[in-house]
Amino acid sequence: MDDRAYIKSHIRTVPDWPEPGVQFRDITPLLQNPKVFRVLIDQFVHRYFDVRPDVIAGLDARGFIIGSVLAYELNVGFVPIRKKGKLPFTTVEETYELEYGSATVELHTDAVKAGDKVVLIDDLIATGGTMMAGKRLLERLGAQVIEGTAIVELPELGGADKLRAAGLPLFTLVSFE
Ligand code: PRP
Ligand code: ADE
Ligand code: MG
Repeated sequence: MDDRAYIKSHIRTVPDWPEPGVQFRDITPLLQNPKVFRVLIDQFVHRYFDVRPDVIAGLDARGFIIGSVLAYELNVGFVPIRKKGKLPFTTVEETYELEYGSATVELHTDAVKAGDKVVLIDDLIATGGTMMAGKRLLERLGAQVIEGTAIVELPELGGADKLRAAGLPLFTLVSFE
């Protein structure tokens, strides 16, 4: 089994959660097994080692789990993009549409410097709304988002295509049709 198939085999699908019709792709079994967790993180380390980004930005909350480990391994800083109301210093914020309703994320205004090369990371891309909001926040502060990355993309929901069409290169490991 290659590394991507090994990773995919440790993602659990929970049908009808959090609501009927949703196939929830649960990454917790990946994190629980130290062997596969290392294989997972090494995929991202190999991808970005020579790129030498200035910053890894992680999306609240599941993007924090993998993003902070990646930043540590690359010896670069980690910045959190958080759901509204959690960051204490001055922030910029972006509101985006979910399937039902909307959500707002925030970033500290001193999280990145103009010209910083940033890799934006999350566990999964569905509609792409979360990652698009993160990209906008970083760009408002003058940073350059050189790539968005995630463990999983769900092509049926069109988010990955939408992000690529908006000019964001993407690197994902696993896709569920
Ligand atoms: C999930 C997932 C991504 C986002 C993907 O996060 O972790 O961040 O949805 O969906 P999108 O592409 O349609 O925006 P969620 O907001 O459910 O919360 P969590 O990360 O805090 O668990
Ligand atoms: N976030 C949005 N859609 C999701 C899904 N199907 N599984 C896990 N996280 C998600
Ligand atoms: Mg999330």
